[in-house]
Amino acid sequence: MGRIFSGVQPTGNLHLGNYLGAIRNFVQLQGDYECIYCVVDLHAITLWQDPTKLRAQTREIAAAFIAAGIDPINSIIFNQSQVPAHAELAWIFNCVARMGWLNRMTQFKDKAGKHRENASVGLYVYPDLMAADILTYKATHVPVGEDQKQHLELTRDIAQKFNNDFETDFFPLTEPLIFGAATRVMSLRDGSKKMSKSEESDLSRINMTDTDDEIAKKIRKAKTDPDPLPGLDCLIENGQFEPAFERARPEAANLISIYAALAGVSLSAAIGETEGQQFSDFKRLLTDVAVEKLAPIGSEMRRLQDAPDHLDEILRDGRQRANAIAQPILQDVHQIVGFLRP
Ligand code: TRP
Repeated sequence: MGRIFSGVQPTGNLHLGNYLGAIRNFVQLQGDYECIYCVVDLHAITLWQDPTKLRAQTREIAAAFIAAGIDPINSIIFNQSQVPAHAELAWIFNCVARMGWLNRMTQFKDKAGKHRENASVGLYVYPDLMAADILTYKATHVPVGEDQKQHLELTRDIAQKFNNDFETDFFPLTEPLIFGAATRVMSLRDGSKKMSKSEESDLSRINMTDTDDEIAKKIRKAKTDPDPLPGLDCLIENGQFEPAFERARPEAANLISIYAALAGVSLSAAIGETEGQQFSDFKRLLTDVAVEKLAPIGSEMRRLQDAPDHLDEILRDGRQRANAIAQPILQDVHQIVGFLRP
């Protein structure tokens, strides 16, 4: 059986994009892989985090994992800072990865913005830590969205260079698991921008902890266009939207793909069902499925977050089991690199 590793940063409210793009897929992988799901708090602090909020956000991700259906008995759920092997292996990888490789990372460029000189050194070596996350468990597969593909390629480059430098085949070349038609969830206020925790208006996103009323209100206020819902000619052969359609009617494309993802049907099935409807009718349909699928997860998250001792207990158990896998691998790495044993 293959081994999955994936991580989510505790840097702010979880929204529908995190659920449909990542967490929902994590749940499905559980039958087919040994799964390790990590709240990556070490990654979070590459940008400054308020300590009190960081604690709450760490628990929020753990709660979301569990509420969405990740089973903490069969899978491992823990927070990264509690397993020292991540930071230790990351140091070794800092000495394997080349400056030139990191200079090419687009996420660093995006996050550092114009003030590169002011970015933390941690933000620069973020991808080395991510490689360490994955390889400290010798994970065979990592579920990733488009935006993380480059980091996974770097992970493979690091594994390969380590193996070459030390004449070994110790690290696997981890494969990305890309989900068929991974849902890209866009802002409810502007269909051309990604749904994001940093967009100012909370009406732009559906948070995983929103109540029924909040979900209904946000969908009611979501931006649309004056035309009725499109027919199947807005799709191309692979079942995705025609790019010209997405450019012309980004809000329609976004709401239809959210509907399809939540209802668990293909885009063509969703379009077959809604063709010719007015947005007012379609929004009622979308609200029903959104409330049906999300509200139980949100209320379970709130229940778990109200009992932090239980969550902390789950994280402690996960930490022990993660450590039990990571420690022997780290010891082998020490041996390969030439460190003396205690
Ligand atoms: N970089 C990932 C993100 O921003 C989070 C992450 C950290 C991760 N370590 C990982 C994802 C290891 C997959 C595997 O979404």
